[in-house]
Amino acid sequence: MTTNRIKEGIYTFRSLDWDRRLFDELIPLPDGTTYNSYFVQGSRKNALIDSTDPQKSDKLIEDIRESGIEKIDYIIANHAEQDHSGTIPEILNLFPEANVICTKLGKKFLKELLLIPEDKIEIMETQGEINLGDKHLKFIKTPWVHWPETMVTYLKEEKILFSCDFFGSHLAQSSPYISDKAKVYEAAKRYYAEIMMPFREIIKKNIEKISELEIDLIAPSHGPIYQEPQFILNAYQEWVGDSVKNEVVIPYVSMHGSTRMMVDYLIDILIKKDITVKPFNLTELDLGELAKALVDTATIIIASPTVLKGPHPEAFYAAYLTNVLQPKARFASIIGSYGWGGKMVDMIKGTLTNLDVELLKPVLIKGQPAEEDYRMIDHLADSIYEKHKSL
Ligand code: FEO
Repeated sequence: MTTNRIKEGIYTFRSLDWDRRLFDELIPLPDGTTYNSYFVQGSRKNALIDSTDPQKSDKLIEDIRESGIEKIDYIIANHAEQDHSGTIPEILNLFPEANVICTKLGKKFLKELLLIPEDKIEIMETQGEINLGDKHLKFIKTPWVHWPETMVTYLKEEKILFSCDFFGSHLAQSSPYISDKAKVYEAAKRYYAEIMMPFREIIKKNIEKISELEIDLIAPSHGPIYQEPQFILNAYQEWVGDSVKNEVVIPYVSMHGSTRMMVDYLIDILIKKDITVKPFNLTELDLGELAKALVDTATIIIASPTVLKGPHPEAFYAAYLTNVLQPKARFASIIGSYGWGGKMVDMIKGTLTNLDVELLKPVLIKGQPAEEDYRMIDHLADSIYEKHKSL
């Protein structure tokens, strides 16, 4: 745990989790993560904004004690997920006079997930406000970043937006502020892709709400604080916007090399047509990298051999993942090889039901690609090239 003073009377307690490599037993964390909690001291009352993951609760309690904090009147729960709210019960034990502040749905979740007593929770909806004396906290509902109950907290006097997961990044580092802008951009994009991309349209509206505020600092509950808020606001505008890039993402797997030959050939032709290609060998998949590539690609091509009448399970997983992440891609297709038959193409097609894409003619071949098979891949590449002209 690291305590940093942000401004007069405003501190962050950062639980640095350098070694964590998996979140939700699903999402890879190549750079670890942080769980940031913020303390706001007012002339009359104090507030703690978000807590920490239960694995780090002892350290947060220790840091609060070491900081000499004598009272906490409010515990702001921007989000009920356990990595931010999981230590609230322990903080309530330490400061029994405190009340928890959250949205109406947040209250339901906190009761169900953490067994926080109902009478300890106050509901604050949009434009709700708390008076700490010389400081005021305002609450804005920002649903689906990435749960339905989420909100952000705005400290009016200092113009700080405490955004929890929204604008966050899984990145453990010494400084509470950005030290490597490019690295934070990639980490934040990856985080957006992994958990927020399916809610792109709602997030657009959340950004509109936030844009009405004058913001000097964005202080998320994962990763570094943004001293240039426009940097991450612009990045989010780009990610949630409707435009796509002249790119083709190709998640692929090959058993005996035939599908791989098709993929390699397709990559070469697309590159010759000045199209950026991002292939992902699914046997070595970092799903965060795939998710990130899906944020703004125009086209997705899933490439799979046929196993027991259907797609290779890794290709099926990639298709399922793509479908649940709901990228804004405009075109998709399926390529692959089979030995004696099967329903690989139909099964993958049936998995992509959430995508609003035009399906380009799949290329399914028997065995190793022959000359006429390469011509079908040529045709697919030509179609992609023509479609991308209209981007
Ligand atoms: Fe960082 Fe949705 O919790």
